[in-house]
Amino acid sequence: SVDHRACGHGKIILLGEHAVVYGSHAVAAPVPLAVRAVAQDTKSGGVDMFIPRWGVEYRLHRDPAHRDSFQRSLGIIFDELQLTDRSMRIEVFPNVPRAMGLGGSAAMAVAVIRALDQHYKLNLSDEEINALAFRCEEVAHGSASGIDNTVATYGKPLLYKRAGKKGEAPMVQELHLPKRIPLVIGISGKESLTAVTVGKVRTAWQRNPALYDGIFQQIDALTLQGVEAMQQYDLERLGDLMNICHGLLNALRVSSWEVEELVQIAREHGALGAKLTGGGGGGSIVALCPQNREKVAAAIRDAGYQAMEVDIG
Ligand code: PMV
Repeated sequence: SVDHRACGHGKIILLGEHAVVYGSHAVAAPVPLAVRAVAQDTKSGGVDMFIPRWGVEYRLHRDPAHRDSFQRSLGIIFDELQLTDRSMRIEVFPNVPRAMGLGGSAAMAVAVIRALDQHYKLNLSDEEINALAFRCEEVAHGSASGIDNTVATYGKPLLYKRAGKKGEAPMVQELHLPKRIPLVIGISGKESLTAVTVGKVRTAWQRNPALYDGIFQQIDALTLQGVEAMQQYDLERLGDLMNICHGLLNALRVSSWEVEELVQIAREHGALGAKLTGGGGGGSIVALCPQNREKVAAAIRDAGYQAMEVDIG
């Protein structure tokens, strides 16, 4: 049979994570890391899923009630596309590190959907792929905003705001940047589940909604200023906004020791701005480094973390 490969993009959130779950704007961009998937026919009589890098191997249970948490999210795809009865093998190659705030789960969902789309010639549109990946994200963490699957699908920098009501379309605006924005991603190595940090923020918000809504509004306002700064290529201003955003995320208590160390290292070595990216609680940071990019990356590595130099736009 023919080998079909398909991919979903990893992403960073430059401004607006967590607040985006409550209806604020957020800015996200793809990074040159992707999850790839391949679908092949077999004679095994079931859907077999392999993720060699993670040592994951399972036969998808036909009855959703019997699936464990790992199977549940991706199982949605096979149910929805009515492929649960097929005999196939799906192999996944995740180049996006797991649970590092880089949108790995959404990228995986998109890659698997695209692999099935190509293999079975389903002719799915990007909108359909995105909508299905969103349903997987909702299973993975209850109140997903939809930003991860949107960037994983379209692979472009964008401004995002979730729909006011369930069933309505979110606001998605592609961002055209005058020039590339040079960043360093610092990866803490501490795995953290977005569902957990999103849940923590929700509990805190429920105790004092007025106070937390105020923080979300500030994040919303600085995100919109950030879009202006990006479009004008005013990186000093963008850096300030990233630093303030990190302070507010810290107020939401989604930072960690490792994240704080990474942010301090980046700023100390010349980053104009540095903040956690994605769910937090560990995971990754993003630093804006028009100068000293190599210095920042080297300092992060010297401290025992991983660093990646990427451009967005
Ligand atoms: O940790 P990631 O890469 O899944 O990013 C999550 C972003 C949040 O705003 C925290 C949650 C969401 O659904 O938008």
